[in-house]
Amino acid sequence: MSGGELSGTLLRKFASVVGDAHVLTGDATAGYAVDWTGRFRGHAAAVLRPGETAEVAEVLALCREARLPVVPQGGNTGLVGGGVPRHGEVVLSLARLDRLGPVDADAAQVTAGAGVTLRRIADADPGLDLGVLIASRDSATIGGAVATNAGGLRVLRYGPMRAQVRGVEAVLTDGSVVSHLSGLVKDNTGYDYPGLLAGSEGTLAVVTAARVQLVPRPAGPVTAIIGLGGAGEVHDLARTALRTVPGLLSAEFFTRAGLDVLAEHAGLAPPLHDPVPAFLLLEAAGPGADENLAGLAGDHPVAVGTTAADRARLWASRERHPEAAGFLGVPLKLDVSVPAAHWVRLATEVGEVVRAVDPGARVIVYGHVADGNLHVNVVPAAEADGRHEGAVFGFVASLGGSISAEHGIGALKAHWLPLIRSAEERALFARIRAAFDPDGILNPHVLPR
Ligand code: MLT
Ligand code: ZN
Repeated sequence: MSGGELSGTLLRKFASVVGDAHVLTGDATAGYAVDWTGRFRGHAAAVLRPGETAEVAEVLALCREARLPVVPQGGNTGLVGGGVPRHGEVVLSLARLDRLGPVDADAAQVTAGAGVTLRRIADADPGLDLGVLIASRDSATIGGAVATNAGGLRVLRYGPMRAQVRGVEAVLTDGSVVSHLSGLVKDNTGYDYPGLLAGSEGTLAVVTAARVQLVPRPAGPVTAIIGLGGAGEVHDLARTALRTVPGLLSAEFFTRAGLDVLAEHAGLAPPLHDPVPAFLLLEAAGPGADENLAGLAGDHPVAVGTTAADRARLWASRERHPEAAGFLGVPLKLDVSVPAAHWVRLATEVGEVVRAVDPGARVIVYGHVADGNLHVNVVPAAEADGRHEGAVFGFVASLGGSISAEHGIGALKAHWLPLIRSAEERALFARIRAAFDPDGILNPHVLPR
């Protein structure tokens, strides 16, 4: 069965599980059927909004019985179409699973329902913080962040979401619930399925709760934006910062091209008056952080913030970059990484690589320089028929890189996975998937099966 034709009987069965108010159909589903960029649109056969893990289990069992494809959705902040019902699937919204447990001060851990936002987890204890920091933290939820192995602005210090996960509760398509939430740091008792679910993009099971390791809240953070001559200087200074600044939390890159768009369309005040082409944002905490960053800046133009307000103002220049391309059109958001030694080539040449297949395309780059991760945002002038992705991903593959550093494969990149994953690897992926979801109802258009 596919979307648009759910029987009244099935809808009544769903309603008997989650309640009438939480079975949405027709116009009420519109907000769940399009992503934040407007690039991915579809329609949902229905949106189901369970409020408890047991309801998720019952709903999934009904979907499996009816062979109904399901797209799990958290805060709908994904950028690769992995949470959008592009083929009329049922959307399983986890937003109502929003119970946040008490912080376990001994272990510095907390258990959060899938629908809890990253902001709530980060604010759960004044002395602690969530290691993963992403610009969409007010809407992005922990279930989605685990399922996509979200990265963000502090990966160089704390790793991606997988590294924060100490356990998960998840529902399999047969309605069974697997739960391992005790949070033990050392626990060698079989397969690490929480680690496997991190980054599985909703294709294996539905994450309903996560046990999250928190980190000490960084003391006295200092933010600096340094104006530089180009990506080469950005890369060199970021490498020096990684080696010499013990409390380094972030090393972020953006360019004047993106900043100019944000100044024109969003009224963003530039962080520096100097007309430099490239910017390195560094954040560090702990003793000597301010001297360390000032020393690194040397004679380059620099703006430094130590108060929350000044730091937020500086961060806005970087954190608002995801919006920039959207002011010019509907963007293609390509999220790639390469070995450190090739990052400068990627950052300086990718614009030409795109324009070789679409001379009128607008390209804005920014990203996480210490992770070898570049976000290539393309606003096509020519038809978006795959030529842009093909050009960028081919270039990245030739540099030994990855076509998804942190956003996932989703719908956007499924076609290009063979560029960087062998036939043997993809066959293994498919066997893992079949073991979890033998009927293939979970996110059927994401990743290979
Ligand atoms: C970022 O680094 O800003 C996020 O990955 C979001 C994006 O790339 O648009
Ligand atoms: Zn990013």
